[in-house]
Amino acid sequence: MDQVSVDYPSRPGIIRNVSLHLPAGSFCFVTGPSGAGKTTLLKLMFLGLRPTAGTLQVFGRDVASLSRDQRAYVRSRLGVVFQDFRLIEHMSIYDNVALPLRLAGKDSQGDRDYVRELLDWVGLGDHAQAKPEELSGGQKQRAAIARAVINRPAVLLADEPTGNVDDGIGLKLLRLFEELNKLGTTVVVATHSESLLQRFEYPTLRLKQGQLVDRAPAAGAVAEQERGAL
Ligand SMILES: Nc1ncnc2c1ncn2[C@@H]1O[C@H](COP(=O)(O)OP(=O)(O)OP(=O)(O)O)[C@@H](O)[C@H]1O
Ligand SMILES: [Mg+2]
Repeated sequence: MDQVSVDYPSRPGIIRNVSLHLPAGSFCFVTGPSGAGKTTLLKLMFLGLRPTAGTLQVFGRDVASLSRDQRAYVRSRLGVVFQDFRLIEHMSIYDNVALPLRLAGKDSQGDRDYVRELLDWVGLGDHAQAKPEELSGGQKQRAAIARAVINRPAVLLADEPTGNVDDGIGLKLLRLFEELNKLGTTVVVATHSESLLQRFEYPTLRLKQGQLVDRAPAAGAVAEQERGAL
């Protein structure tokens, strides 16, 4: 992102002049008070929102110049855990989690075994045939995470992925993200959880009222001061 801003007609300055670079294979946290713009920043990253000003590149390409097919391809390489889960209500948990594989044309016995394995791993093996409405908040969150990682995305964007689970499960989920990161997935986790931020020593992007503040020196993720100041 280079000098990226997001304004809504009724609400200017939701994101203000944010410049940052997340190298392929890096891991970082995004934190800040409620309303600071964390979800909005992730929305930019998964092409759910266009910047009002500034330049946004994903996989080295300016998103403003992507064709519809190219945008769809970029989206297919991103795994997103939404703050509000967004599971498909009329589909079983198994089908929700398997969906990204099916969309990619992957439905072999091996693929189906992998869905089962991941469901077991996130503790939902016994709920594979349940509908989302039959699950608790934390169970839905784990289903949303399984769906986001099932197709081994190049980038995983997780919005408060541990907001509804206890510390033990939260830790386990973060370890899953670390495993994916070791295999090359770039990981971005928005979180309020100070205990997660302290336990995992990854670079942290701090947002306040739409601006990046207090940038920790970053080994993996680099947030730049305004370009002109460099
Ligand atoms: N579609 C929209 N139209 C107008 N304002 C919006 C819209 N979406 C978000 N906002 C505003 O943008 C600001 C940032 O919202 P955002 O959801 O990014 O915050 P957040 O840091 O994720 O907060 P939380 O920690 O509560 O999830 C908030 O003030 C919110 O009211
Ligand atoms: Mg949010």
